Amino acid sequence: MARPYYVTTPIYYVNDVPHLGTAYTTIVADAVRRYQLLRGRDTRMLTGTDEHGLKLEREAAAKNVTPKAFVDSMSQRFRDAWPKLLVEPDDFIRTTDERHEKLVQWIWEKVAQKGDLYLGHYEDWYCVGCESFKTEKELLPGNVCPLHNKPVERVKEETYFFKLASYASRLLDLYQAHPEFIEPESRRNEVFSFVKGGLHDLSVSRTSFSWGVPVPSDPKHVMYVWFDALANYWTALGGPDSANLRYWEPSGEVVHLVGKDILRFHTVYWPAFLMSAELPLPTKVFAHGFLTVDGQKMSKSLRNAVDPVRLAQTEELGGADGLRYQLLRYVAFGQDGDFDHRAMIERYNADLGKNLGNLLSRTLGLCVKLTGGKVPAYTPTGLERDFELQAAVHKTAAAKAWSDLQPHRALEETFALSSLANQYVDRAAPWAEAKKGNQERVDTTLALLLATLRDLSVMVWPALPRKADALRAQLALPPIACQIGRDQWPEGSTADAAGRALGAASPLFPTISDKEQEKALLDRLQPKPEAAAAEPPASVPGTVPGHPAAVPATTAITYEQFAAVDLRVGLITSAKKVPKKDKLLELSVDLGEEKPRTIIAGLALSFTPEQLVGRRVLVVANLAPRDFGKGLVSHGMLLATGPSEKLVLATAPDDAAPGAKLK
Ligand code: MSP
Repeated sequence: MARPYYVTTPIYYVNDVPHLGTAYTTIVADAVRRYQLLRGRDTRMLTGTDEHGLKLEREAAAKNVTPKAFVDSMSQRFRDAWPKLLVEPDDFIRTTDERHEKLVQWIWEKVAQKGDLYLGHYEDWYCVGCESFKTEKELLPGNVCPLHNKPVERVKEETYFFKLASYASRLLDLYQAHPEFIEPESRRNEVFSFVKGGLHDLSVSRTSFSWGVPVPSDPKHVMYVWFDALANYWTALGGPDSANLRYWEPSGEVVHLVGKDILRFHTVYWPAFLMSAELPLPTKVFAHGFLTVDGQKMSKSLRNAVDPVRLAQTEELGGADGLRYQLLRYVAFGQDGDFDHRAMIERYNADLGKNLGNLLSRTLGLCVKLTGGKVPAYTPTGLERDFELQAAVHKTAAAKAWSDLQPHRALEETFALSSLANQYVDRAAPWAEAKKGNQERVDTTLALLLATLRDLSVMVWPALPRKADALRAQLALPPIACQIGRDQWPEGSTADAAGRALGAASPLFPTISDKEQEKALLDRLQPKPEAAAAEPPASVPGTVPGHPAAVPATTAITYEQFAAVDLRVGLITSAKKVPKKDKLLELSVDLGEEKPRTIIAGLALSFTPEQLVGRRVLVVANLAPRDFGKGLVSHGMLLATGPSEKLVLATAPDDAAPGAKLK
């Protein structure tokens, strides 16, 4: 029998609420796990929250609550969200759980006993957003972290080092001997070159804050948050004596699903910690890409982070099943992808409504008319098209795609089978056969279609668990129930015994055909585009006075007039509030000139100074200086849109050089 199967998601930082990005991995893990359940495997799925570290300690302080109270309430948001997406983990671990803290200390001791920890002093750059040290090479000008667009901090303190460098050759051996350890391949190559480039020992404890797991023998130190967090995958199983350890290697298959941004932690640090503690390694780390929404990066400051629960409650688009389908089918797992609201409606209509939903309703409708609402008798006919439909289930590559962690391909295959069945209805035309009095043909055709729908209900279950059961109810079949050792994956369409009365038909995925309804849905779901021109642009000081909407759309300027505006990319290197001015911030902006310029901008109602540092903005560089009094002179203007309390900045990508001219 296949080994027990253990799939994990990253544990999520609780400084944020669940959003579409975190929901994505969690849904994939749940779907992949459901596939393995169908195959009769003993499975386990783990998710949870990452609750220690400087970032969370600061976030709690900013909210004036204790770190514990803060993480308790935030962690609950994740715990509550997942069932609404039909995600059913077996366990939800929190790094503040006592069970975890004890075991991570046990791992620490093992690493210490191995002689892999030593006390020293550390001085380097630290990004609190990443909770990771950064080398200067990794930073943007102005010591800005490229992932968080925020300046890093200088950290200097006593620390325990982990002898990571001494594991480089064992890690390289691992990647070579087990290419399946890191997927996709491009990511493996990336990690391989990184390790080949040489590793430095890793600082794994901190003394300048206390929100972490105490180092057992030296409690003025707390463990580095990643040492603590990575261990969750193992500690959640209950430690060395737990029966759940059967899910870990070598008796179990361990699959970590992670985003590409945290690949290195999982494929370099984590196996090295485990090697040092003499614990078996996971089987695979699979890194997926990043999701954008309607073509835009999701971020708190753009206020476009999509709430997955709200989408899952949109019954018009299939509810949680509908959301799961969109994410699983239309984002190729392993690559970056876009979640497009308009496309979501089109795809819902086409795949779920007009393909699978239609197959069900027309088959049931025909059974009501032509077979008395019962499963008809199947008589083998030797007809090519019957054979083709039966063989299609057998031939589908969906199972392989699921086990290769390619849900998008699995669903492509599954829905291709549904299309084939729809074509089969058209070609077999049972209504015409009925007119000719050819009842045997009618029965066989419908028996085969019902069998295909039954098989499809199993095949879509990993992605659409609730709708799969609703489909089965209409076929008068029990809900899917999995059992260890019982493989339910359909092998080929064998018709059911005749005579079962079918259930009541009702549209599984009613389509959205009305443009008005579509528009209303889009309005409801899409993160609101920041209404340009909603406020006089005086909110961004330096803007030419006057409401932009007052400029008729037809007012044309010559190319020369346009070319006279010197638009440039600027990198904000510092920002601070202007005393006694609620709306104003004083920025230093690097325009590639000898020194940064001072720009006074009306951004304070929308951004904190920290949110701006490191951002690449678009600047009108040749606007006459504007004097704000008290020695404050603005030497340029940033482009932005929206009302003053909800401004969206026009920005340039990370690779645009400060001072680059826009043309
Ligand atoms: N706490 C660490 C993980 C520790 S695992 C031992 C962490 N947490 S996180 O909340 O910041 O991110 C969790 C996961 O969400 C990462 O895998 C990250 O890639 C993923 N995503 C965050 N935004 C995302 C998108 N926009 N798209 C896809 N996934 C994204 O890192």
